[in-house]
Amino acid sequence: MINRKVSSDYDKFISKVEKIFSVTPADVKKIIDNFHQEMRRGLAGRGCSLKMIPSFVDRPAGSEAGRCLALDLGGTNSRVLAARLDGKGNARVFAVSKFVVSAALMRGAGEALFDFIAGCVREFLAKNRISLRKKYQLAFTFSFPVEQTGLAAGKLIIWTKGFSASGVEGKDVVRLLDDALWRSGLKNIEVVALANDTVGTLVTKSYSDRSCDMGVILGTGTNACYVEKVSNILKMKSRGNRRSMIINMEWGNFSKLRRCHVDRELDRASGNPGRQYLEKMVSGMYLGEITRRVVFHMISKGVFLGEGFERAYSEEYSFRTEDMSLVAAGGMPQRDLSADERKALKKICDIVSLRSARIAGGAIAAVLLWMDKELRKRHTVAIDGSLFEKYPGFEKNIKNVFRELFGRRSKKIKLEMAKDGSGAGAAVIAAWAQINHISTRRLHA
Ligand code: BGC
Repeated sequence: MINRKVSSDYDKFISKVEKIFSVTPADVKKIIDNFHQEMRRGLAGRGCSLKMIPSFVDRPAGSEAGRCLALDLGGTNSRVLAARLDGKGNARVFAVSKFVVSAALMRGAGEALFDFIAGCVREFLAKNRISLRKKYQLAFTFSFPVEQTGLAAGKLIIWTKGFSASGVEGKDVVRLLDDALWRSGLKNIEVVALANDTVGTLVTKSYSDRSCDMGVILGTGTNACYVEKVSNILKMKSRGNRRSMIINMEWGNFSKLRRCHVDRELDRASGNPGRQYLEKMVSGMYLGEITRRVVFHMISKGVFLGEGFERAYSEEYSFRTEDMSLVAAGGMPQRDLSADERKALKKICDIVSLRSARIAGGAIAAVLLWMDKELRKRHTVAIDGSLFEKYPGFEKNIKNVFRELFGRRSKKIKLEMAKDGSGAGAAVIAAWAQINHISTRRLHA
């Protein structure tokens, strides 16, 4: 039985950390106001931290039918799937394969990354005995900030989530994929739609639920999209006769937040300093690292006295958000901790994850209030991502923010898990485009 105690400064230290990381109801209101200001600027094409990217997609009617392949690239896994839409709101994924994207591919040459994902499609087709001779349509979910110029065209603005593959930023990612598919001999595959994962998630859920008007990802990265009136998208030159369109907010880059020195240190040491402030305070890629930095600080101040801890907590990103989930659920990533140390570690995890959930709650509320000022209607928010799905108490902490803000009206907000919805959503988008005669293009015709 290990009997190490935390120092007598422990309580003082914890209350200081609690204060620094708190998101009070007044802070939430400020987040909402700042979000509205930035959304307005972003839609008008003025400089701000929210990109507010038109997706060229609207919510589906639910009657779209057909089959489509979908390819998903957005993190450490790439997925290929085939989906069937029955025209009655059911999108059934009937085959799916997952591939690990290595760190070398994430950070190497862009061409190699795209050759790899084209190879994933090839392998998927072979595994499922799908003939290479037939023509197929493919929807591409690419979960990074892309300036879309059409349904199947868009340039990567900047990499996020640890990706830095060369020769991709500023390029049309559909063209890069098309070229790679050709190189790998898949000449009968036509890339008909490009979508962000948030958009795919919203579309999947709204295929069967008409009150779904927002999609959120709370996973390795974070982002949201929602349904906007086309008349509000002032920066779009030709608005045509559509009434509404989904906007990919790229809220991970939202910058008007109260940051502390841990956030600033983490940002400085990151691969994309000065960017993705909200993502760095909220998403799964960073929460473990924030916690590690706080614990390391505790150790260096002598508050946390665990032997060998200094070494265990000195390596960047060695403590992961999955470890936090484990701690929050009552488990421990290490065995050699005393009861006091376990308590201290759990406390820090609680503080860091609570801040994340409250910022996410404030941000979701801001978007819902933007669409519906008095919160008169019912709203389903489709959410995907391991942080939301797996972190104990995360959803409850978001809902508490809604309760504080809206009281009983908060019941109008339904948070619905849309697990792996983005791929099927992209397939729905492809079918939607066909019905609505939205043009897609073929580069090598
Ligand atoms: C990307 C978004 C994406 C989000 C969730 C962020 O890093 O910029 O495009 O939607 O991660 O995957």
